[in-house]
Amino acid sequence: SIVPVILSGGSGTRLWPVSTGAAPKQFQPLTGSESMFRQTLDRVSDRTRFAATLIVCGPGHVDHVETDLAAAGVTDARIIVEPAARNTAPAIALAALSTLAADPAAMILVMPADHVMTDVSAFLDAIATARPAVEAGALATFGIAPAYPETGYGYIAAGEPLNGTPGVHAVRRFVEKPARDKAEAMLAEGGHYWNAGIFLMRADRFLAELERQNPAMASTCIAAVARARQDGAKIHPDRDAFLASPSDSIDYAVMEGAERVVVAPVDPGWSDVGGWAAMHDLGEKDDAGNVRIGDVIAIGAEGNYLRAESGRRIAVVGVSDLIVVTHGEDVLIIPKGRAQEVKAIVEHLAAIP
Ligand code: GDD
Ligand code: MG
Repeated sequence: SIVPVILSGGSGTRLWPVSTGAAPKQFQPLTGSESMFRQTLDRVSDRTRFAATLIVCGPGHVDHVETDLAAAGVTDARIIVEPAARNTAPAIALAALSTLAADPAAMILVMPADHVMTDVSAFLDAIATARPAVEAGALATFGIAPAYPETGYGYIAAGEPLNGTPGVHAVRRFVEKPARDKAEAMLAEGGHYWNAGIFLMRADRFLAELERQNPAMASTCIAAVARARQDGAKIHPDRDAFLASPSDSIDYAVMEGAERVVVAPVDPGWSDVGGWAAMHDLGEKDDAGNVRIGDVIAIGAEGNYLRAESGRRIAVVGVSDLIVVTHGEDVLIIPKGRAQEVKAIVEHLAAIP
């Protein structure tokens, strides 16, 4: 069976003020009427294709998860509550170990909780395409055609098509977050994909790779799950054991050095909603290229993202390419081209005693 694993540990600081540590972006209805976590849940809700979902999150986000599960009518999900954040490789190891106990042949479909997809059936098709290779032991990635030399993504160099599995290629190289010149070179060369951050693999194969490449991480996670406490649908891995784990992402800790990695190219209308500029890209625009959400007046204004929440009105005249967002007591105004610098505000706020 395929067990969907939703990673929901991030805090999404680049979407302040809507996304905050206590209420991060994946639990906010940012890109539609449902939260991105809920959209992720719904993508894998077909029980003829997928087993019950496993969620990995921190203790501060369990309430948000349970609220969305109830709203979605999902009653069979389990939640692994991480005692601390150790990045994605240990989080996935906890999920893989919890899955193996019930089904030694289980596959896990690892998904970030904070992505948008407009074409879910393309995504489901790619999973079905990759499945036979994964059953045979491959670690499958999903490749998005790169649009520009983004340095915040992983890059996948596709090799020959796999024998007997059309639509799946061997991977020559996996490069996580390359420097700008390397990213540009890969784009120029062609045959490279962005890593969507979604993985399909047999749980035992992932753990074998982790053990081979990062034995300390594997053994701390094994100990944390062996001494886990179960509380209804919640699994609490042992705190002391897990705290001893090194912190690293699956991309660096496993994928860059893994054997038998494959890629299924896919175009599911994917976005990782990495900041307000991405929100502008995703949003529906008026004739002047403004995205307007809520009570907004825009006169002689172009290319802006204007989001009025909390009963407020935003009115702009003669400005272009701005992000203006109100949320609660907060107002954000930043040029669209500098939207990534919202992070600096969050750091500033964190430094205020
Ligand atoms: N449970 C848990 N615990 N989840 C975590 C943790 C953790 O400690 N750290 C991160 N996550 C979750 C995030 O919430 C997110 O949903 C997902 O894991 C990926 O983590 P990010 O921190 O967002 O990774 P990234 O965006 O820098 O890079 C990854 O995604 C890119 C595509 O968006 C990589 O896989 C890249 O290769 C990929 O291109
Ligand atoms: Mg991300």
